[in-house]
Amino acid sequence: MWTFFGVLLVVFGAGFPAFLPTGLRPIFDPRIVGGKQINITEVPYMVAVVYYGAQYCGGSIISDVVVMTAAHCTPGITERRTKIRVGTSYRSGGGELLPIKKILPHENYEHYLEGNDIALIWMESPLVFTDTVQPVNLPALDFSLDAGVVARVTGWGYLTTNGPSSEQLMAVDVPIVDRDVCYEAFRAWVNMDMICAGFTAGGKDACQMDSGGPLVVNDTVMGIVSWGNGCATPNYYGVYTNVAHFRDWIEDKLENSTWIIHN
Ligand code: ARG
Repeated sequence: MWTFFGVLLVVFGAGFPAFLPTGLRPIFDPRIVGGKQINITEVPYMVAVVYYGAQYCGGSIISDVVVMTAAHCTPGITERRTKIRVGTSYRSGGGELLPIKKILPHENYEHYLEGNDIALIWMESPLVFTDTVQPVNLPALDFSLDAGVVARVTGWGYLTTNGPSSEQLMAVDVPIVDRDVCYEAFRAWVNMDMICAGFTAGGKDACQMDSGGPLVVNDTVMGIVSWGNGCATPNYYGVYTNVAHFRDWIEDKLENSTWIIHN
């Protein structure tokens, strides 16, 4: 029953709970990947990557002209058909839908399981920063987080492994997991290009269409949603691009421009 209303909430977006008495609203809060609804003002660096009009990945603002996302969000897409939606809590409306100039996936990205799952997107024109549009900090090169530190991941992605997506921006707080523990869980693949976060018991995770979105600690983007095994599956974790490991690469790409990198 409540699941049914949860689905309705997704279909009708954030407008739906407005019909309900205030006291009832929390019951309809979709929590299937363990998240909660948040407002863009809490994470003003969060953007939607939109292709042919539909959000399919997340991203984060790292300067007034550059958005960072996952490389696996970029194959096959063209600059002309891709837009970035900034400054909104909603998946398909609000804020501004802006054109881009250049998509630059990591040169050594082949498949996300092999790492280098990072891409930069240059905006057509500089962003105007407001309380809903702000850059996020980048970590120092190879800065590493201790296991147990709580990070926040945000997105409009699936509320369960099989969907649907969320019209309202969602956030979930997940602890950083020791890389060796994560490697053991997947029995392979996890390397220094990646960081893991989540609970052994499962229940809270990023999911499809959250890809490219930010995993943040102290206003610093430590991870990019990259891959996992289903979503929120017990004994597995969410795997994120280890942004600190790519700080040099990011710097290098921004250097040849007059564009400012915010750290
Ligand atoms: N690759 C997925 C995407 O394209 C994101 C997967 C994240 N999965 C997870 N369990 N954390 O949207």
